[in-house]
Amino acid sequence: MNYYDSIAESYDYLYKGEQLKKFDNVKDLISKGLILDLGCGNGFITEKLNNAVGVDNSVKMLEKCPPNLRVIQADIPSLPFKDETFDLVFSLTALQDVNDIESAVSEIKRILKPKGRIVLSVLRKKKINEIEKELKKNFKKMKIKENFNDLVFFTL
Ligand SMILES: C[S@@+](CC[C@H](N)C(=O)[O-])C[C@H]1O[C@@H](n2cnc3c(N)ncnc32)[C@H](O)[C@@H]1O
Repeated sequence: MNYYDSIAESYDYLYKGEQLKKFDNVKDLISKGLILDLGCGNGFITEKLNNAVGVDNSVKMLEKCPPNLRVIQADIPSLPFKDETFDLVFSLTALQDVNDIESAVSEIKRILKPKGRIVLSVLRKKKINEIEKELKKNFKKMKIKENFNDLVFFTL
């Protein structure tokens, strides 16, 4: 059982307040169109995005999602979507947990439409430098802003 499976019951108690504050800080960056929420967890943030699909690899977290939400169990470095599907790839505090960052970023780029955008808020853990480097390689006009203990990588 992975960490998020083991805390799925208590996730809201542990993290909901913190995640809501982070979401408030990035919601102005969110644009219209079809959105992919990477590492959607129990979906309480995904619900706030219009027209979004959520992906998570924790079955227990996905079981907590509202029944009307479109969610898929998948691993971020191997996404089950066609090329150029999404207008925006969004993620709140999930990419720091991904092992294969190079594949994850390559997948994000592949499933984004040519004029698609990213808004990726990532916890400042040891992977943050690798994530920044990989994103900069792939998204030349990327900007960065602080979001409590996350950094947000975004394009306009
Ligand atoms: C800190 S939680 C954030 C959940 C949600 N975004 C929120 O703000 O409440 C991180 C989520 O990322 C998911 N996750 C971590 N690594 C993943 C991977 N490789 N593929 C898919 N989901 C992953 C975890 O299962 C967990 O639900």
